[in-house]
Amino acid sequence: MKILFAGSEALPFASTGGLGDVLGSLPSAIAHAFPYADVRVVLPLYSSISHEYRSEMTLITETQVRLSWRVQYCGIYSLLRDGVTYYFIDNEYYFKRPTLYGNYDDGERFAFFSRAVLELMDRTGFFPDILHANDWQTAASVIYLKSIYSADARYRPVRAVYTIHNIEYQGIYGMDILGDVFGLGPNMRGVIEYDGNINLTKGAIVCADAVTTVSPQYARELQTEYYSHGLYHILRLYREKLFGIINGIDTTYYNPETDPALPKNYSANDPSGKAVCKEHIQRLTGLAVCPNTPLVAMISRLAEHKGFDLVTCVIEEFLKDDVQFILLGTGDKALEDYFSSLAARYPGKVAVLLQFNKELSKQIYAGADIFLMPSKSEPCGLSQMIASRYGAIPVVRETGGLYDTIKPYNPENDSGNGFTFANYNAHDMLYVLRQATALYRDKDKFTKLMLRAMKCDFSWDSSAKQYMELYKNLPQ
Ligand code: GLC
Repeated sequence: MKILFAGSEALPFASTGGLGDVLGSLPSAIAHAFPYADVRVVLPLYSSISHEYRSEMTLITETQVRLSWRVQYCGIYSLLRDGVTYYFIDNEYYFKRPTLYGNYDDGERFAFFSRAVLELMDRTGFFPDILHANDWQTAASVIYLKSIYSADARYRPVRAVYTIHNIEYQGIYGMDILGDVFGLGPNMRGVIEYDGNINLTKGAIVCADAVTTVSPQYARELQTEYYSHGLYHILRLYREKLFGIINGIDTTYYNPETDPALPKNYSANDPSGKAVCKEHIQRLTGLAVCPNTPLVAMISRLAEHKGFDLVTCVIEEFLKDDVQFILLGTGDKALEDYFSSLAARYPGKVAVLLQFNKELSKQIYAGADIFLMPSKSEPCGLSQMIASRYGAIPVVRETGGLYDTIKPYNPENDSGNGFTFANYNAHDMLYVLRQATALYRDKDKFTKLMLRAMKCDFSWDSSAKQYMELYKNLPQ
């Protein structure tokens, strides 16, 4: 079984969020679980990819890729890591930019990349059984495979899987660039058009042999108006080929027992180091060093759908209790300002770090007692799983992957691994948050819950198997 993952980010090379985590860990999980599988990943060679990795790369070939009337340089580099071959598409005009996304010509940049993914097969001779594309940036590779390239017998047997990591970002462009940028003829208009625009996600859903998303619950939610950002008609129409497979996390990278970022390591067998981690983060961030005050953390992009309107609504009510709150993340300017001023008004009680910092994030997971994630929508969410593994009890809204991974604490039979609320309502959130802090004050019960949460299996094992089953069962 030959599998080629196409994506716009993968750890440790380049990442801005959950997609990078997934593409940094799923391919090697499949390679390890199925030694007969030949797993490869193709990424853009962004200028931000460090010299450390560049020095390990070999130049496979230098070639040219057509994009409509353009003929663009395309270097193909590769390196081997953890049983997976990574290819990097080099073109400095497109990828020597200060950020991964957010440029005026993102449509063209990723159309080029998607074309390059298909040309790579020809130039390397690696024709996979499965092309597994991820999110709008590589949606066009699925569309190209099933249109322009299907005329070539070498491409026809390649099956396409398209994974939706977040439906909010669809790749929407004006119809006027269908030919000029995407190089597609008017015959493809019906496939790619949605609401009068080019919609790359819609096109990939139509063309793919299977569409997956990152949790079973999100697969159901995607078929509703509330969650689909306009695409529920399409997702309902194609529901026969829509599957929800929950993400895992890299349990080697996220392991409190060995994590080099922590001041002291700990595990479910010996959790004593967690208190040291709490003291460390309190000191580091200017919080009062109080071992018995529940420390509630949020680590999140400051984006509306992460549930920040609920937080801003009731946080000051919550701060009347003996609690501490710490937030790490960047994003929406108004939210950044709000939380900076909150920290200024509650010194020693609230710490706000407007950064994207992996090392610090792990120190916060380790130091926190409770982890808040009240998302309005959450395709999968990885932070709640990481938090759970580091013994910070997740308090989440029952949506998407949060619903699938966090089961409410039930004192009757002492089950569950967190606290949950159903409605998108600030006081419902506050109510369960207070249940969590109340339980925290009952040390024995809370420790039992914490140890159970730490032992939850969030590895890729079962999901890697589900992907392999899906690949094998795709219609020829
Ligand atoms: C996106 C989603 C997140 C998911 C991640 C990886 O970032 O918003 O919920 O965990 O992709 O699939």
